Amino acid sequence: MPADDTPAARSAVAARLRAAGCVYAEDEADLLISAARSEAELTALVGRRAAGQPLEYVLGWAEFCGLQIAVDPTVFIPRRRTEFLAGQAIALARPGAVVVDVCCGSGALAAALAAAVPGARVHAADIDPAAVRCARRNLAAAGGHVYQGDLFGPLPAGLRGRVDILLANVPYVPTSEVGLLPPEARDHEARVGLDGGADGLEVLRRVAGGAPGWLAPGGHLLSEISERQVAAATAAVTAAGLTAAVTRSVEHDATVVVAARPAEQDPGAR
Ligand SMILES: C[S@@+](CC[C@H](N)C(=O)[O-])C[C@H]1O[C@@H](n2cnc3c(N)ncnc32)[C@H](O)[C@@H]1O
Repeated sequence: MPADDTPAARSAVAARLRAAGCVYAEDEADLLISAARSEAELTALVGRRAAGQPLEYVLGWAEFCGLQIAVDPTVFIPRRRTEFLAGQAIALARPGAVVVDVCCGSGALAAALAAAVPGARVHAADIDPAAVRCARRNLAAAGGHVYQGDLFGPLPAGLRGRVDILLANVPYVPTSEVGLLPPEARDHEARVGLDGGADGLEVLRRVAGGAPGWLAPGGHLLSEISERQVAAATAAVTAAGLTAAVTRSVEHDATVVVAARPAEQDPGAR
């Protein structure tokens, strides 16, 4: 028998969630009631949420760019802020683009590109086996290829010099600040998805260093950063021989560095 979804039952679930500190208790109550196939399952789901597990882990999915993205415990939960990066990438991608998502986590960015760019050929990679399992589920319908390993290491060599859109939402929280993140992140998400090293840009520097070898001429690398990382992130991509622009969204509270491999010059041009 499905869970009781009467107004009284909804109020009772919301009250339990509110008492546990959930700010959007009514909305979460609706989601949990819809997800539960029985009263017993609802009790278990509410218990997990009241104990502090992120809602997305309890539901098993997160919303991203209008898609339901599967997320397993410990896998980085795609942030709504990152929809800004997705939109920037979609605007740059032509039909049939070769899209690579390094540090793909659940594969949310790659899935958003696959859904929005006709004929996109999508590849994704992550070092974390749990993330790779999730990304494989999320990209199966789009025919995406998912690899496990360090940054570009596991990608097929045939992609070298052919990537039109390189998505790299890498970990960018400075090590000393990981402990200051909200408990849902610091206590539940894998540290490898959060910790960007001393200044938060260690992984981005490695991605920038490798990007010119993988990007097609005119191809773009897009990475989310924090506002105070703009100067250092721009320096990292330009040091790698890429051009850099920075885009911002107040609505999403997001900053993205958009780097490009210069298009090859006509040898006859001056
Ligand atoms: C901030 S999360 C972003 C995940 C996903 N791109 C998103 O936007 O939801 C960073 C991801 O980078 C992965 N990662 C960290 N270091 C890595 C490395 N050296 N090679 C590959 N993946 C790495 C983590 O496992 C994590 O999934």
